[in-house]
Amino acid sequence: MRHLLSPLDLSVEEIDGLIDVAKKIEKNPKAFRHVADGERLATLFYEPSTRTRLSFESAMLNLGGTVIGFSGASNSSASKGETVADTVRVVGCYSTIIAMRHHKEGAPMVASQFSPVPIINAGDGGHQHPTQTLTDLLTIAREKGRLDHLTIGLCGDLKFGRTVHSLITALVRYPGVKFVCVSPEELRLPDFVREDVLEKNHVPYKEVDNLEDVMPELDILYMTRVQRERFFNEEDYLRLRDRYILDGEKMKLAPQNMIVLHPLPRVNEISLEVDNDPRAMYFKQAQYGVYIRMALIMFLLGLEVPEV
Ligand code: CP
Repeated sequence: MRHLLSPLDLSVEEIDGLIDVAKKIEKNPKAFRHVADGERLATLFYEPSTRTRLSFESAMLNLGGTVIGFSGASNSSASKGETVADTVRVVGCYSTIIAMRHHKEGAPMVASQFSPVPIINAGDGGHQHPTQTLTDLLTIAREKGRLDHLTIGLCGDLKFGRTVHSLITALVRYPGVKFVCVSPEELRLPDFVREDVLEKNHVPYKEVDNLEDVMPELDILYMTRVQRERFFNEEDYLRLRDRYILDGEKMKLAPQNMIVLHPLPRVNEISLEVDNDPRAMYFKQAQYGVYIRMALIMFLLGLEVPEV
């Protein structure tokens, strides 16, 4: 049985395979309508979500399976003190695969040690978000045509932004990738990413605090929200939240073929005027999230890919 807790749980070849299947799904979704007949996804979301939970549920429904779950700890017996371990032992009796989001780093890993069915980490605290990364990789593959030889700007809350941590972890395995990390001093990458991933793999990166200066050198700009829910005090959040706002003026500094990604939700960090720029890919990115999650569910359940 396979789980997905970190992007490193999948080899580069397996990720390439998932992207291929996702592209097939995009071209011919009807061919996949009964692939997961009889399968059931449980979404155990102890933290709020719009995209991840609903795209997972859409993915399973698109494949012909069914879904159950809860969308907040207060709606579940976690509010009475039930542990993650006991919850997945029980929910594993009602489902064939589980997607879990939790505010505590490592909770999906604990779940995987007790679950009778595959566990997918749908975001654990400020740690990892591997299925957002699969979504990001599919978006880059579709919109840039490659995953190698890219300069990627990561802007905003790089300390708490789990999507950034997972994206870097996945992309360092591709040749010619460079990172430009744009954040205030207080929101720089944590050591478990800077030292254990970037430096260990000898991947070129720089840390800067000015976005305008680096715009011309980017193939991809990955904007992120400042993660209010992970701050210890509101004052720091208020001081840092509007540090970077991507607007039409800043987009004039970017190459014509640069693309803008954002895992969403956005708060203030991308002005609405950027939505009409053909380089803005963040809503398309959310659509790609359904295709790649369909491919992932099929992979973890060992379901056959139909001939299309
Ligand atoms: N990208 C993402 O994780 O969005 P949600 O928090 O809405 O799931």
